Amino acid sequence: MVIEPNRPLFHFTPPINWMNDPNGLVWHDGEYHLYYQHNPYGKAWGHMSWGHAVSDDLLRWQHLPVALWEAPQRGYTIFSGSAVVDLRNTSGFGHQGVAPVVAIYTADYHPGRALEDVHIAYSLDRGRTFTEYTGNPVLRVNNPKFGDPKVFWYAPTERWIMAAIHGPEQGWLDLYASPNLKDWTFLSAFHAPQSVPGMWECPDLFPLRAPDGSERWALKVNTVLPNQGGSVTRYFLGKFDGRAFHGDPASPLMIYPDGDPLYAEVTYNDDPQGRRILIGWIRQTPRDERPWTGMQSIPREVSLREIGGQWRLCQSPIAEMQTLRRAHHTVSRANLTGAAPVLTGGQAGPGAWEIAAQFDPGTASECGVEIHLARNVTARAGYAAATGEVFVDAPERPRLAMPLHHAGGPVELRVFVDRGVVELFGGEGQATVSALLEPETACVGLGAFALHGAARLATLELWELEAVVRHA
Ligand code: FRU
Repeated sequence: MVIEPNRPLFHFTPPINWMNDPNGLVWHDGEYHLYYQHNPYGKAWGHMSWGHAVSDDLLRWQHLPVALWEAPQRGYTIFSGSAVVDLRNTSGFGHQGVAPVVAIYTADYHPGRALEDVHIAYSLDRGRTFTEYTGNPVLRVNNPKFGDPKVFWYAPTERWIMAAIHGPEQGWLDLYASPNLKDWTFLSAFHAPQSVPGMWECPDLFPLRAPDGSERWALKVNTVLPNQGGSVTRYFLGKFDGRAFHGDPASPLMIYPDGDPLYAEVTYNDDPQGRRILIGWIRQTPRDERPWTGMQSIPREVSLREIGGQWRLCQSPIAEMQTLRRAHHTVSRANLTGAAPVLTGGQAGPGAWEIAAQFDPGTASECGVEIHLARNVTARAGYAAATGEVFVDAPERPRLAMPLHHAGGPVELRVFVDRGVVELFGGEGQATVSALLEPETACVGLGAFALHGAARLATLELWELEAVVRHA
């Protein structure tokens, strides 16, 4: 098996061709499913279909054939959506005791027709192949931008709930309920404040339990910013009462910095451990030198913590990531001024690393981890005391930075390097940044650094990570 020199070793990439949003994230019968927006015919966006892979640990994936194909004969392609396991056979799609996996997705009729509506399809073979419901569409509001449906079972009312975005203008979300996944009743609408303009995509609505035992709901949306073409992820915290979502006044909050390539994140239904696990698309543009485009982020467990007097979503790499750890190095405590190599040429291996470090920023304006790339280029992932942010500086890209609430003591940084991508989790996951290192993909060494002053390295551990990438 040949793995291309620029293919990430533990981030999910499609074997070939284009991938964008993760879709249909659901656990069923020992398998996590990852469906994804996929062009089966090329390295650029188009012919939208659902690619498919399964895994029992969210890291070691088995690629499977395309699960939902575009339907040009019926005038549409298959855009984003979710999947549920209908254990109670509310839909009637079940057969001889087999619970159906039901995919709920956006059918997009462009360019023939300016329309998107919601369709369903079911699988009786563990999510491998799907049959379209003959009563499609199950929801149509005659709008050119409608759907990206996220569906989940809401036990208190014994209903399926759907969150769907509505319209190409200012952020707008509809909630619907259904007893059977086929018949949907409008519940309520939720609108973005005018202070945060832009079109919404890829909503997710889920409950989280705070450390004090109280429950809050998070509504996460991607926002395409008007005019400039950029896009961000925002979230609201609040309450869901079975009919409507009521956002706290402090919302919305940003989850990643503007310009971060992470997008279209969604969470899993039915994690067997009851965790809320999120995966997002890390956007790449097609390149001649690779046969695929796009990757998925490290799966993260989402939690709720009170930080600086405010409830916030935090994200930590799922515990399963520790099973990737191989060769281990520890750096003894050190005072840092300038740059100190940790691993030099030849030691850096194939370029897949986890670094867990604690820095006492001392008098340094910035401190953190250096990633040495080919041709003497350096990327940095660190903490900037002056601005109170964690950041990634990738070559030839603007800094990506997120505020970190730091109440004194060492700053905790976990940095994952996987050839062309770096993911940083700061302050036990209160701030995260993902960054692409392209085109300088070869990691030849790692170091620690402090700028304009002295910092102290309290601990630094690093692990070479297992290459789990597989080809179809
Ligand atoms: C987000 C998105 C979704 C849409 C899909 C199409 O990246 O634009 O709104 O369903 O991608 O591929």
